[in-house]
Amino acid sequence: MKTIGVIGAGTMGSGIAQIAASNDCTVHLFDMHEEALTISQVKLEKILNRLIEKGRIDEAKKTAIQSNINVHTSMEPFASCDLVIEAIVENPSIKKKVFEQVESIVSEDCIIASNTSSLSITSLAAGLQKPSRFLGIHFFNPAPLMKLVEIIPAIQSDKKMVEIANQTIENWGKLTVIAKDTPGFIVNRVARPFYSEALRIYEEGFAGMQMIDLAMKMAVPSGSEAKETSSAGFRMGPFELMDFIGHDVNFVVTETMYNSFYQEARYKPSFTQKRHVEAGYLGRKSGKGFYDYGPDRMVVDILPDPDLIQKIAHRIVIMLINEAADAAYYNIALAADIDKAMTKGVNYPKGLLAWADELGIQHCVDALDALYDRYHEERYRCSPMLRQLAKNGKTFFGDNTLKKNLI
Ligand code: NAI
Repeated sequence: MKTIGVIGAGTMGSGIAQIAASNDCTVHLFDMHEEALTISQVKLEKILNRLIEKGRIDEAKKTAIQSNINVHTSMEPFASCDLVIEAIVENPSIKKKVFEQVESIVSEDCIIASNTSSLSITSLAAGLQKPSRFLGIHFFNPAPLMKLVEIIPAIQSDKKMVEIANQTIENWGKLTVIAKDTPGFIVNRVARPFYSEALRIYEEGFAGMQMIDLAMKMAVPSGSEAKETSSAGFRMGPFELMDFIGHDVNFVVTETMYNSFYQEARYKPSFTQKRHVEAGYLGRKSGKGFYDYGPDRMVVDILPDPDLIQKIAHRIVIMLINEAADAAYYNIALAADIDKAMTKGVNYPKGLLAWADELGIQHCVDALDALYDRYHEERYRCSPMLRQLAKNGKTFFGDNTLKKNLI
């Protein structure tokens, strides 16, 4: 695939254009706003200069990348594209209108993809004349730096076409995982408890935000005993990460997941976060979120409480494992791909299912049952996957006959 079309020159579209152009593709970058194209070019210039300073590319490569990207306010140049990736505003009716236009221009064989984070790929495909040419190609932000890309076939997608698209993205140096077309795909689904359980622990008054952040960065459960701790924790704590992502974005993703899963209790949004959105405390970008980022901010270090830290990290990790196990149970992706997605996509210190094996499957079941006994809430229901594995004395990665043995 040599000629790539990108729709939308915002954060994601610009990143995707940069990736394709760096891999010697001719890119046609389209945006309805001329200003967005200009900003995209200015930002690319800065990024490439930084890469030169770091010695990652030379002047000749910079020139090649820039000359590979052609910017347009018309879609006509898409006529020569092999693949068109859409990255415009997250609005299904606007996206569908754009695809209608794209299809009237591109060749019969051109593959069309959406970078959507939350919309159904199948419903977008249904709006096309030829739905079999459509799939989801979900990059992570910042696209040029994040290694993972989720490939999401619609139920109408042609298998061969999906393989070609997958191979193209791999040829661009990315690591791909195939995900079923369900809300949140892999990463945005499996990662939910990282935020929601942290918020829950905070709301119940067990610990403050700083302590919870510290717990996830410092002490994560490891080893078969689950009592040991390791220093290889998560890169950021949940509250720091939500401030980084922005509460407007993070809250909407949670709310969308909750509603897309027909009010599934595990994805219930938190009032603490909702109030922060209402107050305009959106995180780093607004100077205040859960933490203060203003010029006069005071950083007061807290003394870690080792016992509390261990309990917090254990509870959040167990909830993450349960979510990952459920994703495996419902065939959202292969167990190995779920772990790959979380380690490569969002830099988790370990794959969650490998972590479950390490902690002991029975240990995970017992921990979830203890939470369920305490709250009697659906949220703490242990995944049938974990329960069955424990019953049969099996693990995620120690036994290839995994699912067959569960029935
Ligand atoms: P953005 O707001 O930075 O950029 C969107 C661009 O699309 C703007 O330049 C806008 O002018 C243009 N646009 C809007 N309507 C258009 C139309 N009808 N025709 C042509 N151009 C149009 O948005 P962002 O953050 O890049 O997101 C784009 C898509 O990528 C969304 O579907 C989002 O869900 C998805 N995504 C976003 C991630 C993120 O972290 N920002 C991560 C992964 C996926």
